[in-house]
Amino acid sequence: MPVFFLRTPAREYAALVSRGTISRIHEFVPPSAGKIFAVTTDDVWQLHGAAFSAGTGGRPFHVIRFAGGEQRKRLVSVETMAEEMIASGADRSSLVIAFGGGIVTDLAGFLAAVFMRGVPLIQIPTTLLAQVDAGIGGKTGANLVSGKNLIGSFHQPLAVLIDPDMIATLPEREYRAGLFEVVKYGVIASEPLFRLLSAHRDAVLARDPQVVEQIISESVRIKCEVVSADEKESGLRRILNFGHTVGHAIEAETTYSRLLHGEAVAVGMKAATLLARNIGLLGAPDCREILDTTARYSDFPSVADLSPQNLLARLARDKKSVQGTVHFVLPRRIGEVEVLAGLPGDAILESIKAALA
Ligand code: GLY
Repeated sequence: MPVFFLRTPAREYAALVSRGTISRIHEFVPPSAGKIFAVTTDDVWQLHGAAFSAGTGGRPFHVIRFAGGEQRKRLVSVETMAEEMIASGADRSSLVIAFGGGIVTDLAGFLAAVFMRGVPLIQIPTTLLAQVDAGIGGKTGANLVSGKNLIGSFHQPLAVLIDPDMIATLPEREYRAGLFEVVKYGVIASEPLFRLLSAHRDAVLARDPQVVEQIISESVRIKCEVVSADEKESGLRRILNFGHTVGHAIEAETTYSRLLHGEAVAVGMKAATLLARNIGLLGAPDCREILDTTARYSDFPSVADLSPQNLLARLARDKKSVQGTVHFVLPRRIGEVEVLAGLPGDAILESIKAALA
């Protein structure tokens, strides 16, 4: 059973990747913990609520049901949940367990970060996207109308419990959207992971359990290494934003309603790859392979009608921009990226145009 460790100044903790790991929740609930609050969505609770209850070892808990959706990942939802906690007798010893996809892990994480100035948190991500990325590393937050995740905080959990078996029940579109974050890890840090995705598309899409466990484990390994080296994204952690600069702009431009996060990242990775090629950073064969592999998993609504100019204007408002300068994570080759700023606006615009097509 792979166990990966995150060593941050705030806390050291484990990310466990193991079938049935949800049965071990009780092992990670500290003896000092008061009331437990599980934040989840109806669909996740229907599928996995019984396993969650069994995993708590008979400890009582209160379920907070979040309606779900990127459009509801807003401060007002955090306030509503906090009121529900108070009404149900929460205090400073309460424990929040985030049990859902990336929206839930971000929002429930933020709730734990700010409730009575911070209560402990356990992350149990249930979608591929959350298992390989959002549920690990302590980033929490909510969206503003102006942009994605513009309010938030770092709040490291006590543990992350990842059960690859949960992937079997994910809707196809959610699964594919999560795969783009796995493609991301391949491009930024693991040529073998990238090759697995490009050579074994059928097994990946068939959700062969061994392949699913392998791609999750390799992604989690990379994420844990990167966050352990740079918890607060002052350096290395920025590489995890490959595809996210344009991806976040697309999400905000479409008011979070058209594409799932991973799908927007796919378009963003295409833009970043084309930009890297345009400025001569990336060779033609690697460029072609990244674009081909991304396309092989793509099956989502078109964004060809979006205005490249509008997206360009949004980039400066993204939180990865510093004093209006847009930072891009660009591949040098498959398995290695570089963070660059101050790139020519016309090259950026051309790459966005080509990526939307
Ligand atoms: N999702 C990017 C990060 O955790 O830094």
